Amino acid sequence: MSLLVVDKLSKQYNKSFQALDHISFQVCEGESIGIVGESGSGKSTLAKLLLGLEIYKEGRITFNGEEIPPKKRSLFRQYRKDVQMIFQDSTSTLNPKLPIWKSLLEPLNNFKDFTPSFLKGSFSQKETAERLLEMVGLDKEMADRYPWELSGGQKQRVSIARALSIEPSLLVCDEPTASLDVTIQVQILHLLKDIQKTTNMAILFISHDIRAVAHLCDNVLVLKNGSIVDQFRLGDLYDIHRHPYTKALVQAATLE
Ligand SMILES: Nc1ncnc2c1ncn2[C@@H]1O[C@H](COP(=O)(O)OP(=O)(O)O)[C@@H](O)[C@H]1O
Ligand SMILES: [Mg+2]
Repeated sequence: MSLLVVDKLSKQYNKSFQALDHISFQVCEGESIGIVGESGSGKSTLAKLLLGLEIYKEGRITFNGEEIPPKKRSLFRQYRKDVQMIFQDSTSTLNPKLPIWKSLLEPLNNFKDFTPSFLKGSFSQKETAERLLEMVGLDKEMADRYPWELSGGQKQRVSIARALSIEPSLLVCDEPTASLDVTIQVQILHLLKDIQKTTNMAILFISHDIRAVAHLCDNVLVLKNGSIVDQFRLGDLYDIHRHPYTKALVQAATLE
């Protein structure tokens, strides 16, 4: 069943410039879908519209069969719980003044009426945070550290744990590995893949890097100047009928 349906979604930041132009696609439960395109193609704009961080005037977003109106998204508490996001820069997600365990618990504290499946039984707040750290492969000793005492990869793992804490059905990742070293990028991609296998959470993975998308995603959308120019299953990446722009992205990645 389709979890998310995006229908002819458009965004104009000003009259003369169309950042997104009638974008349509669907994400099914548990699916990993990649959105790839060069810088400025509209990827972050799409993520922001989905998360309600920017408004739109044209098009429609439907989640779990329910329309999410552009200006009233604050009303949709369930939507805000079900759709979580990870950004390229995890520093902005983690409050520098708080120890990691407190930042980790913010989403759960916002949804106090919800108990995630990994917390059946009674756990103190600290134990909950430690459990979350272990879920993303971090030592529980990290709980008492501050963000500046963690590496980029560790911080990104904490942001992932934070997003997972309330068991979203869709995780939107906007260039989550772009600022990490190559070896750490691969580790984070593996982590996301493992999580996806065990939780049946859908992932919308946004990247300028077609290799990262190929690592994680079953289906790929190619965005160019605000339009989807190609759409295919990963197995068809090298198909002769791919859009010339997709071929150029593949070729550029091979040359790097
Ligand atoms: N708040 C904004 N106001 C005006 N233009 C914007 C704004 N945010 C993004 N843009 C423009 O929209 C286009 C798409 O940007 P963005 O969605 O950030 O692309 P990407 O994430 O693919 O690099 C770019 O040309 C960018 O300059
Ligand atoms: Mg971006």
